[in-house]
Amino acid sequence: MSSSNRLSPSSATPHNRQAASLSVEEMYFAYPNGHEVFHSFSLQAQPGEFISLLGPSGCGKTTLLNLLSGFQTPLSGTILINGAPVRPEMPELGYVFQSPQLFPWLSALDNVRFGLRMQAQLGVKAQKDKAMHYLSLVGLASSADKLPYQLSGGMQQRVSLARALALEPALLLMDEPFAALDAITRNNLNEETLRLWSELGQTVLFITHDIDEAIFLADRVVVLGVAPQGIHEEIGIDLPRPRANLHTRKLASFAEYRAALMGTISDVMTTP
Ligand SMILES: Nc1ncnc2c1ncn2[C@@H]1O[C@H](COP(=O)(O)OP(=O)(O)O)[C@@H](O)[C@H]1O
Ligand SMILES: [Mg+2]
Repeated sequence: MSSSNRLSPSSATPHNRQAASLSVEEMYFAYPNGHEVFHSFSLQAQPGEFISLLGPSGCGKTTLLNLLSGFQTPLSGTILINGAPVRPEMPELGYVFQSPQLFPWLSALDNVRFGLRMQAQLGVKAQKDKAMHYLSLVGLASSADKLPYQLSGGMQQRVSLARALALEPALLLMDEPFAALDAITRNNLNEETLRLWSELGQTVLFITHDIDEAIFLADRVVVLGVAPQGIHEEIGIDLPRPRANLHTRKLASFAEYRAALMGTISDVMTTP
């Protein structure tokens, strides 16, 4: 993992789609079996904002991302991305799952290239250049030809991140992407995520159940209550950027945010 804050040079210049706004208004959602997950849920994200969504297991985090990406449809209320109702095929959207979900028979490069094949205007050479550019950004240029089983869990998740970034999303939705990784790898990938975000400038919704990760990354931490309560509390994170593990996590204000959020999560768990 490189500690550099600069991107690798590449001939494949990123498109830099403008960051998207997100507006969720009065959303109601229940599963077909009647299980209610959101009653009257509203959330706004400004273009370029980094929001961490923090909440206990089962509170509806994955359901929320499935709704925001258009894979599930609210029973009422609206979800707008740049003012338009969300659809799963919107080019603005990028999605990183908890498990990397790579095709085991494709190399790292071809996994990143996979989504680009749908972009009909790109020839094979341009697809490969772009895929290589994003693999380089996540520090995996030298592993481009490796198959997923030859990569560590952290490297696989970086391929998955490169695959999402290669589509140059204006809104990046991440569902506990580093939860299965050891703490050191996770901290490194947190730093990497911020470096990429500061260069590419998307709007990011990052779901996690890890308080430190939520604080380290975000401009704003949104704490979800037990379903169908929705948002329990929001807290703005006013830590200086750029953030670095060795510096930021040691700040007194970081410890204060952690203490406050531990209290909030404890309230969430005890609120009937
Ligand atoms: N397909 C489904 N049908 C019915 N209930 C579901 C379904 N998927 C998830 N749930 C329930 O909805 C709630 C929220 O689930 P989920 O969004 O996966 O939570 P989280 O990601 O926060 O752990 C949980 O109580 C879960 O059991
Ligand atoms: Mg989940």
